[in-house]
Amino acid sequence: MKTLLVTGGCGFIGSNFIRYMLDKHPDYMIIGIDALTYAGNPENLKSIEDNPNYRFFRADIRNRNMIEQIFAFYTIDYVVNFAAESHVDRSIKEPDVFLTTNILGTQVLLDAAKRQWRLHPGNKYDRSYRDGVRFHQISTDEVYGSADDGEKFTEESPLRPSSPYSASKAGADMVAMAYRRTYGLPVTISRSSNNYGPYQFPEKLIPLIIINCIYDRPLPVYGDGLQIRDWLHVNDHCRAVDMILHSGKDGDIYNIGGDNEKANIDIVKQIIHTLGKSEELINYVEDRPGHDRRYATDSTKIETQLGWSRNHSFEQGLEECISWYLDNMGWVKRIVSGEYRRYFETMYG
Ligand code: NAD
Ligand code: DAU
Repeated sequence: MKTLLVTGGCGFIGSNFIRYMLDKHPDYMIIGIDALTYAGNPENLKSIEDNPNYRFFRADIRNRNMIEQIFAFYTIDYVVNFAAESHVDRSIKEPDVFLTTNILGTQVLLDAAKRQWRLHPGNKYDRSYRDGVRFHQISTDEVYGSADDGEKFTEESPLRPSSPYSASKAGADMVAMAYRRTYGLPVTISRSSNNYGPYQFPEKLIPLIIINCIYDRPLPVYGDGLQIRDWLHVNDHCRAVDMILHSGKDGDIYNIGGDNEKANIDIVKQIIHTLGKSEELINYVEDRPGHDRRYATDSTKIETQLGWSRNHSFEQGLEECISWYLDNMGWVKRIVSGEYRRYFETMYG
């Protein structure tokens, strides 16, 4: 049995990933940890909370003591680090927590993995590790900054992050790669484009627009709404991470893109029409400072080297996503009212 530590497991992608992995690898033990910030909702994992192969710990990845205790208790084979402050707008208002969680928290995890996995910990220059272990860092295509017309980010593109969020993710990538080069720690990194799907916190464009539309509230569109994002279904992202974890090359970086560039305003209109609402709800508001104009991710490497491809078309995926939010209005209402923050106390004390 393999033991997988997933950080940020109560967030949007982390919770989808844990469900995916328990289904795909029913013999794995999954340890989920999460600080349960405003973005972490244990209700996202309600369907698997009684699964004997899943354990949850409320832990902050910056808390070295607690992370080391978890590593002391479990023999971990894989770490997948999703834990992060993830919202660009918040990073503009409060950059500090982005730098501490996203960079220093990652370093705490790298240290704990190095300590447990090293074969000869007494030798400070030891570069030999237990067989079959891997630290996978979840990064983002935002580290490449804004793409020029016709440009697509490859793994070799320069890092030109624009926001405190993307700068902190680029910093974490560099620290992770430094641990590989300096200490030989087995590390891989993936950089995905914008995800959409069930359980996304409604501060991000797609769930925000769906929910505001349902309630006939104004739909905030930044600037001219012509910024472009490359949308990827969250399940396609989860499958890619699973493939990298098991077949990716040690020390390599993999882009994971949707091959699906859309202007924000077109997404907003698509949601309006699917829900049968009026375009009069659209409200153009002041633009985000430092707003990246376009992201476009080249996924040739993961496609050709690991055989990954997308299972979800955007048209169908977005319709299913809208239906999910409509079918889960209890989940939505508990987030909008703030009641979701009491779920953990009610369930676990
Ligand atoms: P999210 O905000 O929904 O989830 C982040 C989770 O991390 C939350 O559950 C939160 O409680 C937890 N967390 C935050 N600080 C923590 C800390 N100090 N210790 C432990 N847990 C902490 O984010 P998401 O959209 O699911 O993104 C997950 C990861 O994927 C992030 O690393 C993000 O940078 C990356 N990513 C996201 C996207 C996207 O489109 N959403 C795309 C590419 C990469
Ligand atoms: O590209 C991957 C990144 O995608 C991830 O690393 C981030 O964690 C994730 O948050 C996302 O970043 P974006 O800034 O692209 O996502 P967001 O949903 O915040 O915004 C998407 C686009 O929509 C962006 O151009 C800003 C715009 N927008 C967003 C909001 C919340 C609006 O026009 N109105 C809004 O209200």
